[in-house]
Amino acid sequence: MAFLTRGAETGRPQVAEVGLGLIPDHALEEVRNRADIVQIVSRYVTLKKSGPRHWGLCPFHSEKTASFHVHEDKQIFYCFGCQASGDVFAFRMRHDGLDFPDAARALARELGIPLPTSASAPSGHVAQLYQANDAALGYFRQSLRSPEGAQARRYLRARGVSDDLVDRFQIGYAPSSWEGLQRHLARKPQEFKLAEQAGLLVRRQTGDGYYDRFRGRIVFPIAEPSGHVVGFGGRALGEDETPKYLNSPESPIYRKGRVLFGLPLAIDAIRRKGRAVLVEGYFDLVALHRAGVEEGVAPCGTALTVEHAQRLRRYAKEVVLLFDGDEAGQHAAERALPILLAAGLRVRAAFLPTGEDPDTLIQRSGAAALRACLDAAEPLLDHLIERRLRGLPDHAWAVADAAHAIAPLLRAVRDPIEYETYVREIAKRLNVPPAALAKVLQGGSTDDPSSPATPAEPVGEIRLDPATRVLLGALASYPQLLPLLDSLPPDWLLAGDARELLERLTGAIRERGDRALAHLLSPSEQKLSEPLKSALSRIVAEAGDTDLRAAKRAMQDCVARLGIGALDRRTRELTARLESCKDPDELESLLQEKQRNLTERRELWSQVQHV
Ligand code: UTP
Ligand code: MN
Repeated sequence: MAFLTRGAETGRPQVAEVGLGLIPDHALEEVRNRADIVQIVSRYVTLKKSGPRHWGLCPFHSEKTASFHVHEDKQIFYCFGCQASGDVFAFRMRHDGLDFPDAARALARELGIPLPTSASAPSGHVAQLYQANDAALGYFRQSLRSPEGAQARRYLRARGVSDDLVDRFQIGYAPSSWEGLQRHLARKPQEFKLAEQAGLLVRRQTGDGYYDRFRGRIVFPIAEPSGHVVGFGGRALGEDETPKYLNSPESPIYRKGRVLFGLPLAIDAIRRKGRAVLVEGYFDLVALHRAGVEEGVAPCGTALTVEHAQRLRRYAKEVVLLFDGDEAGQHAAERALPILLAAGLRVRAAFLPTGEDPDTLIQRSGAAALRACLDAAEPLLDHLIERRLRGLPDHAWAVADAAHAIAPLLRAVRDPIEYETYVREIAKRLNVPPAALAKVLQGGSTDDPSSPATPAEPVGEIRLDPATRVLLGALASYPQLLPLLDSLPPDWLLAGDARELLERLTGAIRERGDRALAHLLSPSEQKLSEPLKSALSRIVAEAGDTDLRAAKRAMQDCVARLGIGALDRRTRELTARLESCKDPDELESLLQEKQRNLTERRELWSQVQHV
């Protein structure tokens, strides 16, 4: 069903929903070993070599000077402009909008690495479900063109859907018959069973046999970027019919919490514009296309999920919600916001005149009105905060309530700079010190006994102290420096993200040596979250091509600083215990330990580069 997709999506492997488990690890390993990222990226990007890096114009955002580069030794890519990063799998996923299994299959095929048949194509059952949907789509399309589709054609015309749009969306018609699809499908019991599993046929309650689920409805096929039709949404022709929309039930190939209607048609435009437009319904999406806005998607009659948001984040950084301006629309936007923010997206909202949806607006007021509405979209978080703070009484209770009400939304902001800026601005509005607001946001105490002495700085979506950053950069560039960490005292370890990154990196180096980094950054490595992967890529890219001696010195310095931090924490603890200690033996041993700590600290201090 490649005709459902356009541009970069065509010519891709026809597989989407098969689990990763079907590709054996050894095959993945072979792809990883044989694929050369420089060669593969060169097919899409003109690269120029400089040192161990190859530079080119980033394929993931538009730029005039090259900030994208591929690191040949490390087999990873990174863009200083948009922070896209990862290994060869990540590149293909992002470039072609593929899932990990699809990207792995595509690379395997190109490298001539054989995969077990069950892994190289949709497995038997899944493939059969796709076929059932394909057969149904053929029937619906043909019915729309046939004499019995006359009323449906009139309906579409009346709603302003041109023939061109009918073709673009592959819109069809399910005639009112109870057995039309059944007659169209081959008369094999096996076919009916599959059609039932795909949600196309419903088993009769009395006796055996089936009837068509979709009858007398306009049908929209719901497709994945792979081109596969995973389900349908059917609009009743009459205004009073219920339900207004009938949708395919979930099936092994259709999970509503994952699928976005219109995504295959939108991917190119989303990338180009750097944003996706989110609407609520099928006809709303058609309306967007009528207005020349091609970067639209819609959930299929379900609430937006984190998975939806994460899928969009693969293509763009910004989402514009185009919702009804009434109370219900405001609420829907408010519900969607934390989900989108949590995926690291920036969210704008354009509110339509009350009671209008994009489809009714274009019908009543034309395409220009719809575009104007979109252009007026404002940052949604600001909008909601403004609504909460407007006319706020200048009383401690009201101020506190407002701060607590805003907290959950603010906490969802992932970018540390955005976050800090919001905190500062809102604190100013509330006329409270930013630290007080920060405390509310952290849900109370800010004391972390193991937090490093140096303040954390933002690295992409996470915060890291400078010492850990240098340490990670040096270690990732030169895995052979790992033994330097052995000289740290036993409780030197950091907390939170810093700790996780270091533990994962050291673990990977022990396991994989020089190939640790590409492994750790691979989409197949699920132990490390996306924000951590992206922070690590950035640290490595920014560490640049420091030579081994400089990296070693920097690392020794950090090790010494981290060691000092750990010793200081321990010394503070000892001091506190000494104050309350009554037992002379214990007193003696505490004093000795404190003395040892101070000596050790002097030793470490002499290793710190005092610049
Ligand atoms: P709306 O009720 O806003 O319908 O539902 P709409 O999109 O404006 O539909 P038209 O313009 O009257 O044709 C928004 C979306 O919610 C889902 C559909 O995805 C619909 O597009 N929905 C709605 C259902 O799944 N079932 C329903 O019965 C109604
Ligand atoms: Mn509508």
